[in-house]
Amino acid sequence: MARFIDELKRTHACGALRESDIGTQVVLFGWVQNRRDHGGCIFVDLRDREGIVQVVFDPAEAAEPFAVADRCRPEWVIGVRGRVRDRGAMRNPRLPTGAVEVVALEATVFNEARPAPFPIEDGIDTHEDRRLEQRYLDLRRPELQRNLRLRARMNHETRCHFVEEGFLEIETPFLVRYTPGGARNFLVPSRVHPGSFYALAESPQLYKQLCMVAGLDRYFQIVRCFRDEDPRLDRQPEFTQIDVEMSFVTQDDLFGVVERLVFRLWERVLGVPLRASYPDGRFPRIPYDEAMRRYGNDKPDLRFGLEHVDVTALVVEHAGGGIGLLEPIATRFREGRDRIECPGEIVKVMRVPASLGLSRTEADRLEPLARSMGARGLGRVRIGDDGRSWTQSPFARTATDGFRDAVNAACGAQAGDWVFWQFGRASMVHTVMANLRLHLGRRLGLIPEHGSGGQWKFAWVVDPPLFERDEQSGQWVAAHHVFTRPRDEHLPWLETDPGRVLCHRYDLVLNGFEIAGGSIRLHDPEVQSRVFRVIGLSEQEARDKFGFLLDALRHGAPPHGGIAFGMDRLVMLAAEARSLRDVIAFPKTQSGIDRMTGAPAPVDPALLAELRIRTVEPG
Ligand code: AMO
Repeated sequence: MARFIDELKRTHACGALRESDIGTQVVLFGWVQNRRDHGGCIFVDLRDREGIVQVVFDPAEAAEPFAVADRCRPEWVIGVRGRVRDRGAMRNPRLPTGAVEVVALEATVFNEARPAPFPIEDGIDTHEDRRLEQRYLDLRRPELQRNLRLRARMNHETRCHFVEEGFLEIETPFLVRYTPGGARNFLVPSRVHPGSFYALAESPQLYKQLCMVAGLDRYFQIVRCFRDEDPRLDRQPEFTQIDVEMSFVTQDDLFGVVERLVFRLWERVLGVPLRASYPDGRFPRIPYDEAMRRYGNDKPDLRFGLEHVDVTALVVEHAGGGIGLLEPIATRFREGRDRIECPGEIVKVMRVPASLGLSRTEADRLEPLARSMGARGLGRVRIGDDGRSWTQSPFARTATDGFRDAVNAACGAQAGDWVFWQFGRASMVHTVMANLRLHLGRRLGLIPEHGSGGQWKFAWVVDPPLFERDEQSGQWVAAHHVFTRPRDEHLPWLETDPGRVLCHRYDLVLNGFEIAGGSIRLHDPEVQSRVFRVIGLSEQEARDKFGFLLDALRHGAPPHGGIAFGMDRLVMLAAEARSLRDVIAFPKTQSGIDRMTGAPAPVDPALLAELRIRTVEPG
């Protein structure tokens, strides 16, 4: 029988020892962080999940463990029995265990280790691809251990929250029927049914609605979702959702459940008294069109100002003399006033106050940046010392005083401020100005390069349009999914003016990220048919696509709605990590590859033959 593990059980985690443990006998297991030979004594920093503690191997205390330590190298796995003692004057204030050390009385080597290809510590500059190849070593580093621990605690608190609020945790299938539209699915060939395929579920959406029809009332699941889209910093091909669906609730009720979850997570896991920042216990709500108007996107970062002002109406008002360079766009407006509405053309300005100290050189750099974002240029003026005149700008020569004063008033411009302009197609103007705002926010130190800077700005973005026009075909399409409930008071416009119909769809945003999204569902068959007609979906096509859901909804579906959090994004923001990969134990790279196992990989042609799949050479 081996003495360590069989007889000598672990008494403490390495990182757990404190001054109060002085004098106690302990048994520790862990990895050798480093080993230092200090003339006679050997010092080993021993590391486990909870932290690091110094172990002293002194031949005067015990000869046998000293011989063990003499052999040890970094990343060897060892066991130590010893006595905790005071480090006295040699305390290390940077370590939580720094007041104490363990004098080894007995030691063993469980396993040796090859030299690690990169340092097992925080702040290393080894390329991420290299680290992902041996993720099990990367994961030993404290920052990743911290992130995974945080994630585990968030999982735990999430489960507790939903259970306490009366939700059932229900698993739904991963292998589902392929339905076109929505996110692109991964396909899985069926061996038993050659030539047929499953799809990997992009989300449990349909199933959770079926759970409501089944009378399960309140559902949640912490669930993997699969989407064959190009990975980005905040996207992975497989990711985790906190998925929720509720019956007999309003949007307001659902928001309450979510807000209580977020307060709980921030308070219990991060130790941040978030509720104090939202005295009425609710997150602010921003209508979608207001978010677009003020910030240019539907996931605004509310940690700083630099808001946009839409001056389209002023341009129209002052057209025909006095707006100079903007005249061609005003002419286009006059030719078709309705095009001022999205997705027509608009004019927006963004004021950068003089107090932020944006230099002329930096302002000059913004135009090429705007071009790289798809703009044809970037208009700008600087307000003169008189607090009114426009300088350093071609606009200055052509604008009338009336137009100038009106724009200055609209954006609150004062002496020394910069005002940047963008005009053209609404989607382009919003995107360029939104990106410019974020760029300046970082550049001018209003928000940190990454992380929260201790600020957590949550908001609901509500009331988006139910439909949008497909830019190519001009056809109305569902802006999200076709089972989103329109606002009751907008139902009369369904056929006459679909673009005006807003719906019960909502996103929760945090510091510029969409962390959750959902909707109140459309359970009324009559309204459903009208929505299908607007988007040109015949009853037959609707049946082909969602037959079983349509059937179910006609068998006594309760009013219901739901939401899904991107768990990875939530943890990434809570942990102030740089990318989703830093909070996922075994993530894929930017190009969807698992560096460690080499997935995806070709398979044996015999296996493909069995599945009746023939590969076709490209070209
Ligand atoms: P949606 O598609 O908006 O809604 O997804 C919900 C949330 O999931 C996160 N998310 C992702 N996270 C990482 N990688 C990805 N590729 C990725 N895609 C989405 C986002 C997003 O807010 N069934 C609906 C929810 C509902 O209506 O109840 C759904 O899946 O944070």
